[in-house]
Amino acid sequence: MDPLSILLVEDNPGDVRLLESYLWETSFPWKMRHTSYLEKAMQLAASEPCDVCLLDLSLPDGFGLDTVTKMCLSCPLMPIVVMTSLNDEGLAVAAVRQGAQDYLVKNQLNSQLLIRSIRYAIERKKSEEALAQTVSELRKMDALKDKFLSVVSHDLRNPLAVITGVLELIGSGFYGAITPLQHEAVKDAIQSGDRMNRLIRDLLDVSRIEAGTLVLERHLVSLLMLLKRIVFEADIVGRGRGIQVVGDWKPEDLMIQVDPDRMTQAIENIVSNALRFASHEVQLSVTTDANEIRILIADDGPGIPPSELSKIFDRFTQADTERSKGGLGLGLSVAQEIILAHGGRVWAENLSYRLDTDLSDHISDHISGACFTIVLPYTKEG
Ligand SMILES: Nc1ncnc2c1ncn2[C@@H]1O[C@H](COP(=O)(O)OP(=O)(O)OP(=O)(O)O)[C@@H](O)[C@H]1O
Ligand SMILES: [Mg+2]
Repeated sequence: MDPLSILLVEDNPGDVRLLESYLWETSFPWKMRHTSYLEKAMQLAASEPCDVCLLDLSLPDGFGLDTVTKMCLSCPLMPIVVMTSLNDEGLAVAAVRQGAQDYLVKNQLNSQLLIRSIRYAIERKKSEEALAQTVSELRKMDALKDKFLSVVSHDLRNPLAVITGVLELIGSGFYGAITPLQHEAVKDAIQSGDRMNRLIRDLLDVSRIEAGTLVLERHLVSLLMLLKRIVFEADIVGRGRGIQVVGDWKPEDLMIQVDPDRMTQAIENIVSNALRFASHEVQLSVTTDANEIRILIADDGPGIPPSELSKIFDRFTQADTERSKGGLGLGLSVAQEIILAHGGRVWAENLSYRLDTDLSDHISDHISGACFTIVLPYTKEG
């Protein structure tokens, strides 16, 4: 067995002798290099790293946490055990946070404690290194995944636009008359194309959000016009499945500063989920106060399992329910990022637990599934 190589950085000759005597009591081979100075210790460590460094925190040329930082920098792979006197324990704990692996209080030391601490420091350093290695590999893979998502989703979009464009032309009779049955089939194919387009858009946006390149183009727009279009289109899709999509808002219009395409995308992502889960009905409503606009999107489906409520806005996350299958788990995370970028917030709750009379004022009692609330800052004047 190779002797354990120890670098002792200690300026008090009494403490050096004491440490050596403890080491002599142990049964394994060891060899030691000793210096009283931090500078010299850094040179020694850099020229020939040791298995462990025992570092006093009060040296002629270094004091306190600074010594640990310098030592870590000059020899990042070497485990460090700091040594302090009894009244400096707080400093020792801080040193561990700073990068040391363990600490020893000098006047409480014995042979067993010393060797246990050395072994512990060596093992802890090894696992820290392994963890750092894993994190760095994961980061690289994450960056690769983002690049892949960005390239793939971009390249999928163009051919899909051609496919749905041609289908629309067929549906409109441009290439000749088609039977009602063929018309229905073409409509279904267009709907699937639209859904795929939305998925690709979300995939692309995830990589944009990750890279911080999602740009908002804000204009002053009519919120009710925006919502009415979403309700109109969702209702057409819903009716094919026996689901009605209704909007409930006061006639007064609300002008807000938003990126209309992005805000539509965010609300559509929430509405398309509601359509997937609803039994018969999805309701959208709007309420305002002096500063904020609240958009409520509620459905009469089964709701979201309470244990999953906090997770559904996470990327690639779906609740563990039968109807969740099929999607990518991206819609809500993209919606949330867009809403946050507008200075707003969004959350989900289950109406079956509704205690909030405010919600009851705006959503019919028979709607008892999930309810998503989007809050946006109110910009009356733009
Ligand atoms: N209205 C709802 N009722 C019940 N569960 C919902 C509702 N909306 C969302 N969820 C749950 O939240 C999960 C995440 O939704 P999200 O839109 O992020 O992903 P997805 O719809 O599964 O896939 P994608 O939107 O990428 O196609 C859903 O899979 C579902 O489990
Ligand atoms: Mg979705």
